[in-house]
Amino acid sequence: MGQALRFAILLVLGLGFVTWGTSVLVDRTTREWFEKDVSLRARLAVSGARRALVTHWHEEPPSDLRGLLSEITDDERILAAAACNADLTFLARTKYFPSQLSCGEIEHRIRATDASPSEQVPWRSLEVLPGGNVHVSAIPVGDRDQGLGFVVLVHDLSFVQRRAATSRLFLLITFGSLALAAAGITVVAARLARRKWSDDLRMGLRSGSARPEFQPVVRDVRELVDRIVAEKQSDREGEAWNPKRLKRTLNRYLRGEKVVILANREPYVHEKPKCGEGIRVVHPASGLVTALEPVMRACSGTWIAHGNGSADRETADRHGRVRVPPGEESYLIRRVWLTPEQEKGYYYGFSNEGLWPLCHIAHTRPIFRSDDWAHYKEVNQKFADTLLEEVDSEDPIVLVQDYHFALAPSLIRQHLPRATIIMFWHIPWPNSQRFGICPWPKHLLEGMLGASILGFHTQSDCNSFVDCVDRFLEARVDREQGAVVQHGRSTLVRAYPISLDWPCQWTTKVPPVEQCRASIFKELGLESDALLGVGVDRLDYTKGVEERLLAVERLLERFPKFRGRFTFAQLAAPSRTLIDRYRQLNENIEQVAARINERFGQGNYRPVVLLRTHHEPPTVFQYYRAADVCYVSSLHDGMNLVAKEFVAAREDEGGVLVLSQFTGAARELTEALIVNPYDIDEASSALAMALHMSEDEKRDRMRSMRAFVSEFNVYRWAGRMLVDAARLRTRDRLTGRLTDHFDISANVASRL
Ligand code: G6P
Repeated sequence: MGQALRFAILLVLGLGFVTWGTSVLVDRTTREWFEKDVSLRARLAVSGARRALVTHWHEEPPSDLRGLLSEITDDERILAAAACNADLTFLARTKYFPSQLSCGEIEHRIRATDASPSEQVPWRSLEVLPGGNVHVSAIPVGDRDQGLGFVVLVHDLSFVQRRAATSRLFLLITFGSLALAAAGITVVAARLARRKWSDDLRMGLRSGSARPEFQPVVRDVRELVDRIVAEKQSDREGEAWNPKRLKRTLNRYLRGEKVVILANREPYVHEKPKCGEGIRVVHPASGLVTALEPVMRACSGTWIAHGNGSADRETADRHGRVRVPPGEESYLIRRVWLTPEQEKGYYYGFSNEGLWPLCHIAHTRPIFRSDDWAHYKEVNQKFADTLLEEVDSEDPIVLVQDYHFALAPSLIRQHLPRATIIMFWHIPWPNSQRFGICPWPKHLLEGMLGASILGFHTQSDCNSFVDCVDRFLEARVDREQGAVVQHGRSTLVRAYPISLDWPCQWTTKVPPVEQCRASIFKELGLESDALLGVGVDRLDYTKGVEERLLAVERLLERFPKFRGRFTFAQLAAPSRTLIDRYRQLNENIEQVAARINERFGQGNYRPVVLLRTHHEPPTVFQYYRAADVCYVSSLHDGMNLVAKEFVAAREDEGGVLVLSQFTGAARELTEALIVNPYDIDEASSALAMALHMSEDEKRDRMRSMRAFVSEFNVYRWAGRMLVDAARLRTRDRLTGRLTDHFDISANVASRL
């Protein structure tokens, strides 16, 4: 339709131009005709009076000659007349003869027009008067062979303009009507053709017997409809998202293609112990890994990651590949080896000293160095190249993860234009003003827009991203569809809040609550009636660990009855320790914990237990189960899966979650006690409330949060992204078919 309209507009413009050209031509021709006509009349008038003119030519006084001239001007279109002698003086003039005309000037103009009075031909018009509405003719008068001079006639030509205007109007109306009729016919014809075309397509879809040229399109549309119907039905029937459903979704929607993940952190790190023999498999502390590993197990495929474990090389084959999980081996890790310089610039520098503080409001200044940026680009390219080695089709499904790989989507897209690239940003997205701190905002945004789908945890992150695009790029933002269109390709920008596998794999690997409580209490040397709070984090300044310990201190200050009874165990996994800010945080926390222990410790009682080492998930889950309260105090966090893990661990529906309002999780786990971690009094009150809470209330709150996490689990997260990707893929394929087969633009095809 848009195309027909455009054609119609062009047609109208074209015809308009032709009309204008023709009317100019008509103007000129009409004037020439009328001038010729007027010259002819002048000659006739003068030759009719010739004998009398010759007779009275030299008479004195010239009253008869003037009378003759006046008779000639009786013609309504002759305004004035004069007789010019051969010596170029006036012999006689009528009353209204223009004073600016002299015989000499008229003669001069006659010469300039190459005519000659002796040639006895009508001389050309002489437009000597301003306005151009008069025509001056000079007709020679002679007696036998002797030239006496010439008669000058001034004609009124204003009627010519009036007639030309009428003809122009007529022409305009004729051409205008023609143009409108042609445009209308074009639009109607295009509409009819499209309707017929859509009817044929619809009939083909209903009856199953489409015209041969429609068959591939019909097949794709049917497939898409079947998928949507099946998906809706599963939702209606309340079918839970689980590994089976995710796998089925992948098989059904994406024809079982394996997925390829690009993430900096690998799910299994092979480490050689500092002392002793053998190789240890470590599950790194990373929300990204926690969420994606079960997805990968369900889908199979390849996870491309930085190989940085001390035994990673020796456990991988010569291509850097290793099958995981150990003993199950359902997917591959492809390790990418980086030089120490690359790791320093790309991982520690640009990713974690630049982008990480840029995206988190935690009052740590981002540092951007051009060397780091060069390494970031180089490593993104290296990962993109590795991915090209791992894919086995032209349209693979690629999941690019997190801020380490902002440039990878467009680097991959350059080589695999038909790939389905889903990029998920696991951390918050800054507002456009803050984002402008980064010296390379355009590069990052353009890199990310290589993706087909761009996922964030919250709608407000999506909005901030789209605002940045609006501010830094020449791209069309479709806020209604949640899409950014650049270079004719669109990227969906959607919120997909991440979650955990459900039931969470680790809950089956740890003993029930009572047993966990007993063993952890024993390990910490706590009395059986003691109260236990836990915090579980990487040692990162965004997690608000200092503020958390201050809240514990305040709790003990304000409520002395908890002294000697309440212990807070902080599990803190060392993280990014080469960065100064992280070292400084480590020291601060140690000091705060020591101070609190000094203030409130007694005998064996230590209110804060700082466990600064990596803990494997089964140990972490035992702590969750043993705790009365879990406090997540992030100053800013995309989602925070510790909060969800705590909920998943509490099969007994016990325990209370105190949760920072600055986490994505706070929007979902609304039954937690939501606090502002900067408000130490408020946080200490929430801890007290948690320790006082009745068992019934704890159960109600926990039950409701568990119901939420079980339904909105990570299989649903991945499933929704894959379903959206599959729709996008079918739509692209359909658009391709329609444009190839029917020669219509991609824009039109995508809207059919
Ligand atoms: C955050 C990031 C992840 C990262 C994790 C652990 O959750 O979003 O991408 O893996 O922190 O950080 P690390 O630097 O140890 O991978």
